Amino acid sequence: MSEALLSYRSPGRVNLIGDHTDYTGGLVLPMAIDRYTTISGTRTPSKIRLHSQNEPEIVEFNLPISAPEKVTPSWGRYVAGVAAEMQNRAQGFEGEISCTIPIGAGLSSSAALEVATALALGDTSTPVERARLCQRAEVRGVGVPCGIMDQLTVASGIRDHALLIDCHEMTISPVQLPNDVKVIVQFIAERKLTSSGYAERVAQCNAAEEIVGPLRVTNLSSLANITDKTIFRRARHVVSENQRVRDFAAMLRAGDLKSAGKLMIESHNSLDHDFETSTPQMNAAVAAALSQPGVFGARMTGGGFGGCIVILADATANLDGWQVRAVNAASQID
Ligand code: GLA
Repeated sequence: MSEALLSYRSPGRVNLIGDHTDYTGGLVLPMAIDRYTTISGTRTPSKIRLHSQNEPEIVEFNLPISAPEKVTPSWGRYVAGVAAEMQNRAQGFEGEISCTIPIGAGLSSSAALEVATALALGDTSTPVERARLCQRAEVRGVGVPCGIMDQLTVASGIRDHALLIDCHEMTISPVQLPNDVKVIVQFIAERKLTSSGYAERVAQCNAAEEIVGPLRVTNLSSLANITDKTIFRRARHVVSENQRVRDFAAMLRAGDLKSAGKLMIESHNSLDHDFETSTPQMNAAVAAALSQPGVFGARMTGGGFGGCIVILADATANLDGWQVRAVNAASQID
């Protein structure tokens, strides 16, 4: 009898508002999107062997694995990181990966690969535990000190809803997206978090917290104690962004898309001026989108330094880019 074919699929994500807040336990408002990484194959006794349609080289290693950061080709480090974090719970798997999430675009192709891998290797934990496992896998496998937003979003997505996530409490409140609203993603430029200023931003937020305590519970006036101008601006972004996420969720719930759009523009400006994660091309794309009829708001989304912008628009808007829909979490498929 031939082995049963197993398939696991994880969505990507786009963040509507709340960037560079997750790693200080702040608030984010992303949604899982209808772009996917799918892993299909069969169980093996104790070996991982995966071919990706996007990559020339196969990833192959035996379980258990203890040094995922040394696996080659390098895309296999995401897979190996997950296997290492699952320890002796990881089951062998042999198969094929296909992906409709553009890679390096800031739409969480990495988190999707990690979460789909965890499922393929037999993870049966809760979405929050799975997200934590995959976050640790990314830190261990590829050395990016990422927050929890991406993994938690793809592990917990809810159709037609954005997710208001408190990254300290690890609580998720679904926020229904109005039917007549369009979420459009425009790709600007490829980027890698491993070689961007991401880790430096994380360190700067840590430096701010040493002076004023946790940014998630700090108010703007307390930031006056930070004398270093760069650290002050980084902290001001985080504190103001957490408030914008709260306000945006309330506006979305009230159907006030005009005010929600204004908050997206403020968020973009804060990421550009205070956090310095935008780029001239992203700024130009945001300005161009805002000049179009039917657009409520636009901003850079995700880690920045390239990647994508996200646009909130009404049903009449006619814009370049991909219209994305909010979809359910990663799961096994038939
Ligand atoms: C990347 C990280 C996330 C988050 C965003 C910025 O996507 O993986 O954890 O920090 O950048 O909001």
